[in-house]
Amino acid sequence: MEALFAPEEQEAPTGPLLRVHDLRRSFTVSGTRIDVLKGCSLEVARGEVVAVVGQSGSGKSTLLNIIGLLDSADSGEHVFDGVDVTRLREGQRARLRNERIGFVFQQFHLLERRSALANVSVPLVLAGVPLVRRRAIARELLESVGLGDRLSSQPHQLSGGEQQRVALARALSLNPALILADEPTGALDKASSTMIMDQLLDHARSRNTAVIVVTHDPEVAARADRTVTMSEGRILPAEEE
Ligand SMILES: Nc1ncnc2c1ncn2[C@@H]1O[C@H](COP(=O)(O)OP(=O)(O)OP(=O)(O)O)[C@@H](O)[C@H]1O
Ligand SMILES: [Mg+2]
Repeated sequence: MEALFAPEEQEAPTGPLLRVHDLRRSFTVSGTRIDVLKGCSLEVARGEVVAVVGQSGSGKSTLLNIIGLLDSADSGEHVFDGVDVTRLREGQRARLRNERIGFVFQQFHLLERRSALANVSVPLVLAGVPLVRRRAIARELLESVGLGDRLSSQPHQLSGGEQQRVALARALSLNPALILADEPTGALDKASSTMIMDQLLDHARSRNTAVIVVTHDPEVAARADRTVTMSEGRILPAEEE
């Protein structure tokens, strides 16, 4: 597979995988401006697992959406995998997002009338991976999350925990450098929550994949290498936590 952003094509990957610095993002609702990110800075090393905690409304999802190239900051620095993403065109951003970043959301966001296999294949289709190869990759990933016998099941035929495992397999399908997980266990019971975190962290640690996981669950945060706190649109410096 041709990979635009393969690490070997870039300068030596010595710096952090991700650096955002002094990000600002406002929304205007009914003529009123709301400043959501107010100078938010964060660095994440390759393979590092970072938990983001903080009150509801502090801007965690807004930050994750920007890091995931689903949204853009109004200003600030944003370097991912050696690339200054503020200078990319939309097509390049879309490709970087698909090939180097995996997403796991609280509400799974699976395609409804499609099989587990088809859902896991979505990033592979977008990246132009041939059919036989993407079937093999999707099957192997679904087996690795314990769903080898549910390849043709559609989301409505799966439990919440099983749907989240499909979403995790999808996030891993192109072996991304970074996985963004926004309250991945927020809709799950304790057993499913533990299973998802086990699988997410096992995969991430064996492939040196960095993870940013937003969570309200102290047990999830405790499993990260580092926890940062978001407060009123900023990541607090370590001494203020
Ligand atoms: N598209 C938008 N338009 C207007 N306001 C927005 C938009 N997105 C987010 N906001 C506002 O930004 C603030 C932060 O929202 P965000 O979703 O980032 O918080 P959060 O920390 O993820 O909260 P939670 O823990 O509840 O998920 C909120 O006040 C929210 O209403
Ligand atoms: Mg949120």
